[in-house]
Amino acid sequence: MPLKNRHFISTHECLLSDLEALIARARAFKHGLLEAKPLAGKSVALVFFNPSLRTRTTFELGIRTLGGTPITLNIGQEAWSLEHREGAVMDEGKTEHVKDAVRVLSRYVDAIGVRCFPKMASREEDLADAVIHGFQKYSDVPILNLESSLYHPCQALADIMTIHEKRGMTRGAKVALTWAPHPKPLPTSVPNSFLLAAAQFGCEVTLAHPPEFPLPPLVHEFVEKQVALSGRPVRVVNSQAEAFPGAHVVYAKSWGGLGYYGRWEEEKKIRDGYANWIVTDRKMSVTSDAMFMHCLPARRNVEMTDEVIDGPRSAVYDSAENRLYVQMALLEAIL
Ligand code: CP
Repeated sequence: MPLKNRHFISTHECLLSDLEALIARARAFKHGLLEAKPLAGKSVALVFFNPSLRTRTTFELGIRTLGGTPITLNIGQEAWSLEHREGAVMDEGKTEHVKDAVRVLSRYVDAIGVRCFPKMASREEDLADAVIHGFQKYSDVPILNLESSLYHPCQALADIMTIHEKRGMTRGAKVALTWAPHPKPLPTSVPNSFLLAAAQFGCEVTLAHPPEFPLPPLVHEFVEKQVALSGRPVRVVNSQAEAFPGAHVVYAKSWGGLGYYGRWEEEKKIRDGYANWIVTDRKMSVTSDAMFMHCLPARRNVEMTDEVIDGPRSAVYDSAENRLYVQMALLEAIL
């Protein structure tokens, strides 16, 4: 289905051919090909419920470069706090309902980007991705996912562009996506989206995580559909030793244990027991000279050593840079 005027929530809802066209266009933008100002006269609201360095900077810059106007709203700070529960009796802290806020924004702007991390309090609510779906439900203009509970599709597109850039292709690339240690329980959005996009683009992915840290079953269902289309397998293992040998790409990311919602102190003890999942040069030495990837922000010397992230095979800044170009391509296609 073409991207024009559509919501963009996850890559698995898009055709591979449309995503490939986006990446080709992103490469053209990166090489300085900007013939016109496709967003002239258009404006995009960027709604942030959570902090950001890369997403905010690249969206604001990309929109301006394309001739449009970005309007950034930090919810609960200079913008009102938002209630998203249907039928809520709003006699507590939240000032405005999402249905009013989104209907109003739809009358001002041509698209709305939303960053809404999971609250990590209710597994059911986070797995339902309720906040971004609330925006989708009440908006008359396209909603762009700037990272929700479940997905970070712009990061995944930049990661795929980076693999393509470094290897010349994605099909058949052996990718090890590994869980990494971290002092806090983090969302699964980045690994979910990277796994989906890598499967969609024909990578041979091995997902490695300790047994207590699976990704959501719903995501694996979507991944299996991509595997059926690409014909490339996705393996799930419980050790890095099974994932790293021969890999062309190592992607490190931490996430919290789905079975421990509301019991994060208990989970922390288990998480702390896996400090040896840090990515080191020694572990990278059994790969096929793999590039190292991480979405950033990174916890140095916890998730990976300085040697790995600063080393010659690290592609973390290339991916961060490519966020700008894939998002410009996305904005142009949608608007
Ligand atoms: N990777 C990423 O989305 O970075 P920010 O959280 O800084 O936007």
